[in-house]
Amino acid sequence: MKKRIGILTSGGDCAGLNAAIRAAVHRADLLGWEIYGILDGTAGLLCDPLQYRVLTPAMFDNNVMRMGGTVLGTTNKGNPFAYPMPDGTIKDRTDEIINGFKSLGLDSVIGIGGDGSFAILRKLAMQGGIRMVGIPKTIDNDIGETETSIGFDTAVSVATEALDRLQPTAASHDRVMVLEVMGRDAGHIALSAGIAGGADVILIPEIPYRISSVAKKIAAVKEGGRNFALVVVSEAVKTVDGDASQMKFTDGQKRYGGIGHYIGDQIFKATGSETRVTILGHVQRGSSPTYNDRLIASAFGVKAVDLIAEGRFDRMVAWKNREVVDVPIEAAIAAYQAVDINSSLVHTARALGISLGDEI
Ligand code: F6P
Repeated sequence: MKKRIGILTSGGDCAGLNAAIRAAVHRADLLGWEIYGILDGTAGLLCDPLQYRVLTPAMFDNNVMRMGGTVLGTTNKGNPFAYPMPDGTIKDRTDEIINGFKSLGLDSVIGIGGDGSFAILRKLAMQGGIRMVGIPKTIDNDIGETETSIGFDTAVSVATEALDRLQPTAASHDRVMVLEVMGRDAGHIALSAGIAGGADVILIPEIPYRISSVAKKIAAVKEGGRNFALVVVSEAVKTVDGDASQMKFTDGQKRYGGIGHYIGDQIFKATGSETRVTILGHVQRGSSPTYNDRLIASAFGVKAVDLIAEGRFDRMVAWKNREVVDVPIEAAIAAYQAVDINSSLVHTARALGISLGDEI
């Protein structure tokens, strides 16, 4: 029988989402199924009329795969269990979303999201009897039970390129360049880009630092005859007093940003080196996906449809040991994946003489 499945992207966007949608559309078409793209995450189901598009292979030629962002739109606001209404009240709107799924006649749904989105989507699915499979995406790479998530590779490439671009200007001006990268509470982007981009210092939230250690490394670089240094700092690194560098916006939300300036100033105070700061921000989420993100996203999109074909739900596709596998969504949410301080990459950084800020 012809199935109709839904697909949506939820949470922050990243590069590679379109490649995953494209793969799911082509795989579903091969099986003779219809696929409906729900717009703006679950928000498309809170609209009247419901906001969705019937997706066809003709709409998803190879060029779509090259595009950053998500053609379906997304949102990382508006938890349907506690939805902020225009009049300032908070409302549970889950029944409207469940009714939306049902009135579209969907057999099942593919949710492309991070751990926060999965927690909400899974709760919704349980409540509404919706059959769901998940595809992991996040530049932060903090979802458990998978070695990588869509978007991480591109974000690391962008951050590495930023270091490549900062190096010549740092050398020309004898400066310390501080690059602040995203990653929320996990330091994966900083660690990977820092190693690949030749940083002298990498500060991540998982490893408490001392400014004296950072200053010592910069002094050693100078004593070694190099006139510049590159420092990467992850956005959730705290000040020496233990405060997170977050700004409260007028919408009431706190967002990371600015620890780079703090670290830059501390380095200047401790070393006297002229210091400049770059906050990379959402540049890490845009751009055409790397080959690796396209590949993983394509494999994930196909596998998600295959799981539906096998009638296996409440599963998340995952990348392990060069293969696409599937794991319980619940396990992936539970196993938050920060940087393991005993991992090969932490060891590699130390072995390369990169300071992680905790050396005595
Ligand atoms: O989770 C992905 C992420 O890009 C984080 O690295 C970052 O802290 C956050 O989202 C930014 O969110 P927003 O797009 O709401 O500014």
